[in-house]
Amino acid sequence: MNNEKHSDPVSQEGQRKTILVTGGAGFIGSHLCERLVKDGHKVISLDNYFTGSKNNHVEGVKYIEGHTRDIESLITEIPDMIYHLGEYSRVLTSFEDIDLVWQLNSQGTFNVLEFCKNNNIRLVYAGSSTKFGEFDDGGDGEDQSPYAYFKASNTKLVNNYGNWFGLDYAITYFYNVYGEGEISEGKYSTLIGIFTRKFKNKEPLSIYGSGEQKRAFTYVKDIINGLVLVGEKGKGDGYCIGSEKNYSILEIAEMFGGEIEKVSAKKGDRNNSKIDLTKIKELGWSEGGSIEDFIEKIKNGK
Ligand SMILES: NC(=O)c1ccc[n+]([C@@H]2O[C@H](COP(=O)([O-])OP(=O)(O)OC[C@H]3O[C@@H](n4cnc5c(N)ncnc54)[C@H](O)[C@@H]3O)[C@@H](O)[C@H]2O)c1
Repeated sequence: MNNEKHSDPVSQEGQRKTILVTGGAGFIGSHLCERLVKDGHKVISLDNYFTGSKNNHVEGVKYIEGHTRDIESLITEIPDMIYHLGEYSRVLTSFEDIDLVWQLNSQGTFNVLEFCKNNNIRLVYAGSSTKFGEFDDGGDGEDQSPYAYFKASNTKLVNNYGNWFGLDYAITYFYNVYGEGEISEGKYSTLIGIFTRKFKNKEPLSIYGSGEQKRAFTYVKDIINGLVLVGEKGKGDGYCIGSEKNYSILEIAEMFGGEIEKVSAKKGDRNNSKIDLTKIKELGWSEGGSIEDFIEKIKNGK
């Protein structure tokens, strides 16, 4: 192993840092890389291109291709901080992909944590709001799908690395992120991505179940603002980053307009997710984006 601790003399609080983004070629990761480069940091991405794409690459970022479980051998320049976003990231498909979820999220994240512990690196973890999901049967959100389970387990593990080994960390929870560059084709496409594609192709918008399930759709740039604040000042667990407004899937489909088709409900689909914005607001975060405006722009061909 030939790891060298980053020794840039200007690498102090608020100044140029070397930052590793896992999943840097993914939807949220690429927006984060773009912002960090703009802020003057040295940015490295580690991505295995499972759902990531080279089309998302941002100028100025050093891209390393590989699985997070191999972080130790792949990352030879020790960063000041890691934003860990590189995990399996879909709820409904996670039942059929449980083996992949384990490999990408458990095996991978364990090695990221070991890497942070062994090299004294600050970690910001991208948790999921599915942990706070509400279900008709009253069950815990974290037990309702393999995705929710592994994401919630990782938040426990990150907290425990803090308790057991003194890891410097912060945990964020994202709520239904939408924005430019989300996946709109194939098995791993997102709701707004699918609706956008179908709207443009004049196809009916499919809704699982009643469509009454509510979501806090959150603009990706608001997520990035939150992540940067947490990266700079966050301590410990509990940084929910999400919109204060909730919309049902049906309301979203109606904003697009056109034909709607209802299909049977899918396992793991929550009604809503509880949100507590206290900690992120304490860091000075506020919401800027609006899903209504975003959909309006799509409809106007922008
Ligand atoms: N999009 C959302 O609404 C949302 C909500 C809550 C949490 N999150 C979390 O945010 C993170 C990013 O999500 P996204 O929407 O950008 O998804 P995404 O699928 O676009 O991005 C994930 C990226 O990580 C890469 N990746 C996956 N496993 C990896 C591994 N083991 N090693 C290296 N690279 C790996 C993928 O190739 C992809 O580029 C994920 O951790 C996800 O669970 C997303």
